[in-house]
Amino acid sequence: MSIYQVEGGRTLEGTAIVHGAKNSVLPILAAAVLCPGVSVVHNCPDLSDVRASIAILEHLGCRVERSGDTVTVDASGLTRNDVPDALMREMRSSVIFLGAILARTGAAELSMPGGCELGPRPIDLHLAAIRALGAEIREEGGALHCALPKCGLRGCQIDLSIPSVGATENAMLCACGAAGTTVINNAAREPEIVDLQGFLRALGADVRGAGTSTVTVTGRKTLHGGEHTVMPDRIVAATLLSAVAAAGGEAEILGTDYRQLSTVTAILTEAGCRVRSGEQRITIRRDGPLQGVRPIRTAPYPGFPTDAQPPVMAALCRSRGTTVFVENMFESRYRHVDELCRMGARIRVEGRVAVVCGVERLHGAPLRAADLRGGAALVVAALGAEGVSRIEGLSHIDRGYHGLEETLRGMGAQIRRLEDGGGGLPNL
Ligand code: UD1
Repeated sequence: MSIYQVEGGRTLEGTAIVHGAKNSVLPILAAAVLCPGVSVVHNCPDLSDVRASIAILEHLGCRVERSGDTVTVDASGLTRNDVPDALMREMRSSVIFLGAILARTGAAELSMPGGCELGPRPIDLHLAAIRALGAEIREEGGALHCALPKCGLRGCQIDLSIPSVGATENAMLCACGAAGTTVINNAAREPEIVDLQGFLRALGADVRGAGTSTVTVTGRKTLHGGEHTVMPDRIVAATLLSAVAAAGGEAEILGTDYRQLSTVTAILTEAGCRVRSGEQRITIRRDGPLQGVRPIRTAPYPGFPTDAQPPVMAALCRSRGTTVFVENMFESRYRHVDELCRMGARIRVEGRVAVVCGVERLHGAPLRAADLRGGAALVVAALGAEGVSRIEGLSHIDRGYHGLEETLRGMGAQIRRLEDGGGGLPNL
């Protein structure tokens, strides 16, 4: 079991480059199933969730090769249409393979992904969208058996009651195999959906409107191999910005589109950071104390991202004044709060609301990550705390951050991964 050991209280300086987006690369790798040729995907981060996606592709009969940050998927010899339970459990978002497998093979066998660390994660909208396209889906004993009628998938109008990211993506992938045109209304507008559209177009698909609330797909185009570069991870960028806000100092975050992070940078500016944005770069400086800010309400894009709530909260634990958080996206997204309180933070949670009363200092503590972004929040808090923190549960963090410790060390942070769980406290 590996842990992070973080010695806090040092300001961060320097430059960090943001790796490819987890939430983009997962649907893109699933989309590779659609294409009876070779897809070349650049800027693929080496994350455990990406390795899980590659394992699913290989199980399906694809040939997958990774060379540096480029993953090549040859889906021409697809032999299967099932995803075994063990692989479904490894990554909740493996449900994204449903639409693609069905569109390519005309049938699919998956197990229900079940809940996750963030609480219940229903897939009713995914299933409703795919049913609307004509699929017959039988839910039985935790398994999903999906088949198509003789006429196959048919383009249709899909009205999502919530702009779900995953349901929008699944509907887009499935609609690529449907005859005629599909219109997805109240589609999620996240930048990762625009990225998926870019990849699908590179394969020859006719997809329009991503980034707006209406996505239109004209299906059954002849798809061919294609090449795509995954967008930078805006949540990794938000985490690094929060780290500088927590620890103080000045750093430049490269590779990220500042327009995708304006809700986060606006909050950090209000809290007292100096933020300057340019093409593919954000510079942040924090030299005075942070101030509490107006209520932060998570919302679908372009609102404040739920994935940035934990790291931003970690930074605001040390601030003058009070900040209210309202988590509107997921039920159990305050699992980092108890751990932050172990470090001396003052936070009260009631349902969807967390009230952070800023304190002057945090102290290092033994901590446990319970989910991906909550785990990143503990790293952020530890960087701004006095003394040494040890963080367990790195498997959660490794799902979405590649080489977080190296990136932060490059900015002057004292953070190390100890592979054996520690033992004594070595000198940093
Ligand atoms: C994606 C992101 C995740 C991010 C989330 C919200 C990926 C791999 N993950 O997750 O990092 O936190 O968007 O920005 O891209 N819902 C239903 N029924 C459904 C589907 C969703 O009720 O069938 C609800 C969810 O419970 C949640 C809300 O819709 O309350 C939004 O979820 P959704 O946008 O689907 O999130 P994911 O795609 O799972």
